[in-house]
Amino acid sequence: MEQTFAIIKPDAFKAGNAGKILARIGAEGFKVVGLKKLYLSKIEAEGFYAVHKERPFFGELTDFMSSGPCIVMVLAAEGAIKKWRDLMGATNPAQAAEGTLRREFGSSVGENATHGSDAPETAAFEISYFFSGLELLG
Ligand code: RTP
Ligand code: MG
Repeated sequence: MEQTFAIIKPDAFKAGNAGKILARIGAEGFKVVGLKKLYLSKIEAEGFYAVHKERPFFGELTDFMSSGPCIVMVLAAEGAIKKWRDLMGATNPAQAAEGTLRREFGSSVGENATHGSDAPETAAFEISYFFSGLELLG
């Protein structure tokens, strides 16, 4: 089974939507391999989103990601990377399809409720950024 890395972002956590998002994760057939609540520092958020460091929204994005607690997860399923991105929907909640997490829980292109890895290489980097092998046993 493929693994992907997911975040319930600070906007969704603060709004009390983490439980509903976790319920959807279970209902859609993902196995939760790793899960923890973190309150990222600015430096930790910058390291995680380093791929976007030249983008105009980098400061805003890393301020937001370090603005409150979030939940980081490793999810497993057949085709987990695409399956999770399909469940999240488009980056901009206004363009996300009905029934997707960003449509239901996101409020703007910046505050869009969830994160998901976009390729096997980014999933491997992102999983190892937050989890040790010991935390992913079983
Ligand atoms: P993510 O990495 O969080 O799963 O989102 P994504 O692949 O759908 O989008 P990406 O292009 O990787 O952008 C990462 C995050 O940056 C914020 N963003 N803000 N203000 C803007 O124009 C803008 N564009 C992107 C979003 O929070 C997006 O999820
Ligand atoms: Mg991305």
